[in-house]
Amino acid sequence: MSIVLPVFTPIEETLYLTLCGRALDNHMAQPILGDTMAEQLVHKLGYDCGRFRLSASPIINIAHRAKKLDEVARGFIDRHPNAVGLDLGAGLDSRVVRIAPPAGVDWHDVDFPEVIAARRQLLPQRAHAHGIGADLTDPDWLDAVPGDRPAVIVADGLMAFLTQEDMIALLERLIGHFPSGEIAFNGYTRFAIWAAKHYHGTQSVADLIRSPGFDDPRQPERWNPRLHLVKEILLTREPEVAQFPPALRWFTRLSAHSTALSRRGTTVLHYRF
Ligand SMILES: C[S@@+](CC[C@H](N)C(=O)[O-])C[C@H]1O[C@@H](n2cnc3c(N)ncnc32)[C@H](O)[C@@H]1O
Repeated sequence: MSIVLPVFTPIEETLYLTLCGRALDNHMAQPILGDTMAEQLVHKLGYDCGRFRLSASPIINIAHRAKKLDEVARGFIDRHPNAVGLDLGAGLDSRVVRIAPPAGVDWHDVDFPEVIAARRQLLPQRAHAHGIGADLTDPDWLDAVPGDRPAVIVADGLMAFLTQEDMIALLERLIGHFPSGEIAFNGYTRFAIWAAKHYHGTQSVADLIRSPGFDDPRQPERWNPRLHLVKEILLTREPEVAQFPPALRWFTRLSAHSTALSRRGTTVLHYRF
């Protein structure tokens, strides 16, 4: 049976870049994330990931940050088996399948309505996993989410597409809605934003980037005093680097000596509130 997906807007289409990154990682000799479902999905859709001309570095990067965000979510859920989980700008990511939360956790994937409709067609449905079709800049979408339980909130590849004002407002709404929780997202320094606008592999999304980026991981603490940095995860210093192909491993290990250089690549910022 052929799949007829809703027509995606350019911002929604950005989901293919990260989906392809995870699918191509799964195809590598030593996958970092090992997201079999991403590869199956690309195959099912007949999507040509070759159009992005992704080299090993961005493929590994996409898979590596997804793995770190999974770890944050899993760790929180282990400590709070009645938690609420949120994946903001979920795209076609099957994070909830990778994490496999216990029955006491309600998981919510949030993205524009067309994307959530596509997820319903393409991804296996799970008990206690819900899709919310909404614009995250809309102040009302959180009404659909229980606000009396601790929450773990992840956003993978989203923040670059929000203005700084929208990001601050979103954080404020999330923090105001739940009694306590953790939030983690891949951060973009000002250099990372510049690089994303100029690197050939991210050219398809360059015109959609709205964030100016920020360099100090403590900056969000100044936006909202309830937010406290748990860890700035510099991917250059994570154990998975040992699995990288030799040249990339050598370069990454060299960068790991310098925080400034490490921040030029991807960081995952982890906060509690
Ligand atoms: C680069 S994709 C990442 C998708 C997914 N997190 C992943 O890792 O595959 C960015 C996603 O954010 C969503 N997005 C961007 N701005 C949004 C907004 N204002 N409201 C809801 N979703 C948004 C897009 O539709 C897209 O699915």
